[in-house]
Amino acid sequence: MRVKVKSDYFRPCVARMTGYTPGAQPPGPVYAKLNANESPYPPSPKVLEALRATAGDALRLYPDAMATELRARIAAYHGLAVQQVLVGNGSDDLLTMILRSFVGPGDLVVAPHPTYPLYEVLVEIQDAVMRWVDFPPDFSLPSDIVQPGAKVTFVCNPNSPSGTWTDPAAIADLAARVQGILVVDEAYVDFAEGNCLDLLGRFPNVIVLRSFSKSFSLCGVRLGYGLASEEIIRGLVKVKDSYNVNRFAQVAGIAALDDVAYMRVNVARIRSERERLAAALRGMGLFVFPSQANFVSVVCQEPTPRQFAAELARDGILVRTFGDPRLRDWLRISVGTPEQNSRVLAGIERTLGTLPQEEGDNDASP
Ligand SMILES: Cc1ncc(COP(=O)(O)O)c(C=O)c1O
Repeated sequence: MRVKVKSDYFRPCVARMTGYTPGAQPPGPVYAKLNANESPYPPSPKVLEALRATAGDALRLYPDAMATELRARIAAYHGLAVQQVLVGNGSDDLLTMILRSFVGPGDLVVAPHPTYPLYEVLVEIQDAVMRWVDFPPDFSLPSDIVQPGAKVTFVCNPNSPSGTWTDPAAIADLAARVQGILVVDEAYVDFAEGNCLDLLGRFPNVIVLRSFSKSFSLCGVRLGYGLASEEIIRGLVKVKDSYNVNRFAQVAGIAALDDVAYMRVNVARIRSERERLAAALRGMGLFVFPSQANFVSVVCQEPTPRQFAAELARDGILVRTFGDPRLRDWLRISVGTPEQNSRVLAGIERTLGTLPQEEGDNDASP
């Protein structure tokens, strides 16, 4: 029997929300899951060994609430103080802590559009105001991204879903001009040509976010971290869930940092396949953003992204289309193994082949 729940139990801002739609996680096996920017390669064998060793009696006990050893390892990896590091249940958890800490009802939060849609969901939970500022066609930082009174400004670099790269010098300039906190979301930065770590010593309002999900192949353990001044980290700690990083995630992170060389090999393979994929798609007449991430995004009207996705799905390949009407023409493909990417290209070519001849030359731009 179902009881009826009155919608006014919810805070009005929650009742109004639709929530975040993650990339589909199908229950059954697929040939290639290229819809959520996961790695096609397994985690380091050292990580798997550490996880197996953790599956024992110690699971009776809560994990270290401050993940001291892991934070020390992350700090050493980046040459920072341990007090400048906070870990979370994915970097999504850090985003939640940031919104809880700095943003209240009616406050303004700014981000370029399009970018990671979770930012807006977290702003809605706070009953705050999300102001999107459109990227210009070249995807450089929008000139009006500095908005008076913004409590938090987000820049995702490389950006998702475009994969485009903003020069760290432009982000440093932004850090000097925004009034509130500047969050530099570097979930994909290991696939890029630089990073914004050096902003941390220069600007007290900068928080850099990193993730073990993508380059370290650890989406499934949920582990990310934030880097900032000691003062900011101290404040974020106050609002974090008490045991926000479980024992498995803590040992996985430590073991992953014991084997950074393994991650770098995978990153190099993905970068080289990214370039092959992008060049081949461009060779078919498609518009492809220059990507510094582990995915490529295509913009096309005909065939539609959904037609491409349906053809690829017939071959067991999942790619990402978007519900946001402004991203109707976008198709995002995570970089897979060379074999997977070749099958993606074959599926794209087949879909293009279904077009009448004169419409086959599709050079749509965003
Ligand atoms: C831009 C961006 N930031 C953060 C995240 C969250 O990563 P995590 O798995 O560390 O929570 C994602 C996940 O896809 C992302 O695309």
